[in-house]
Amino acid sequence: MQAPEIPTLNIIGAGHLGRTLACLWHRRGVFAIGGICNRSVESSAAAREFIGAGTAAESLDTMPPAGLWLIAVPDDQIVSTAQKLASYLPSDRQTLVFHCSGALPASALASCTHATLASAHPVHSFADPQRSLEDLPGATVALEGDIDGMQRLESAFRALDCPCIPLSPEQKVLYHTGSVMACNYLTVLLDLSLQTFAAAGIDGATAKQLLAPIVLQTANNNFALGPERALTGPLVRGDVETVTRQLQTLEKLAQINPGTAALAETYRTLGKAALPLAKRAGLSDTARRQMSDLLTANPDDKVS
Ligand SMILES: NC(=O)c1ccc[n+]([C@@H]2O[C@H](COP(=O)([O-])OP(=O)(O)OC[C@H]3O[C@@H](n4cnc5c(N)ncnc54)[C@H](OP(=O)(O)O)[C@@H]3O)[C@@H](O)[C@H]2O)c1
Repeated sequence: MQAPEIPTLNIIGAGHLGRTLACLWHRRGVFAIGGICNRSVESSAAAREFIGAGTAAESLDTMPPAGLWLIAVPDDQIVSTAQKLASYLPSDRQTLVFHCSGALPASALASCTHATLASAHPVHSFADPQRSLEDLPGATVALEGDIDGMQRLESAFRALDCPCIPLSPEQKVLYHTGSVMACNYLTVLLDLSLQTFAAAGIDGATAKQLLAPIVLQTANNNFALGPERALTGPLVRGDVETVTRQLQTLEKLAQINPGTAALAETYRTLGKAALPLAKRAGLSDTARRQMSDLLTANPDDKVS
């Protein structure tokens, strides 16, 4: 008996995400990689090198026929890329066109009227494609769009050991915002933390050595114990004087070096956001009011 033919996947935008998925699908024999089209042919060739299969295309009109098209360009260019792709698709409704944006629904591809449309958002940070080849398995993928497209993508992602969940188009923006809060803003917080260590004269390597175990432990505690039990530190202990000293020091720092103003602003904003959580974790009403007054006070009144 003849083996079933492997479907061909074309990729428009083989950047961090596109090249990683294509490489994994190629290695697992899920899809044959067809054309790869980035903005420059040099970039397409580099992506082809990474994936280990496919053909670098100069433009859409030189792409081979394919049963699936992944549009993995930046979100703001998905609609216009789908508009360009539409005229190259056959009218038999057999082609699946999908994107991987967390925030946009599959209907962003609506100009591809003759295709099945879907979106598939892996909850994973593709910061380094080489690392993602190892780390992606286990990440969940949120699927949305036409049922047939979702089913085809579910089996493609399951072949990469990625479980899938369905989402409605209405859920997508808030779903993605939740992931941005935890993942992207954690990175921003770590950067601000490193800036604070630097202001204390502690070099980056030492600061990272200090932070790595406690940040990983904090993340693990959050998932194992929940945020109420994971929250430790001066705010939830009601140590008003410690919080006062930290805030005053950050505000003095901002006066000396305005480039560090985000440190005091973020400390205040997140401190205020932490108060309802701290209350649930047992902070007394009196301490909570004192913290609230402190965190909302005019900074100019506080610096001595
Ligand atoms: N990165 C993540 O962690 C992550 C996670 C989940 C979902 N996503 C989603 O994945 C998608 C891609 O993100 P990414 O981070 O992989 O982006 P990226 O690394 O910036 O890659 C984008 C790629 O698109 C190409 N491109 C841009 N405009 C194009 C155009 N008009 N025609 C053809 N190719 C074009 C770029 O080509 P050049 O190389 O020639 O510039 C680049 O290769 C987005 O929808 C994003 O929301 C990303």
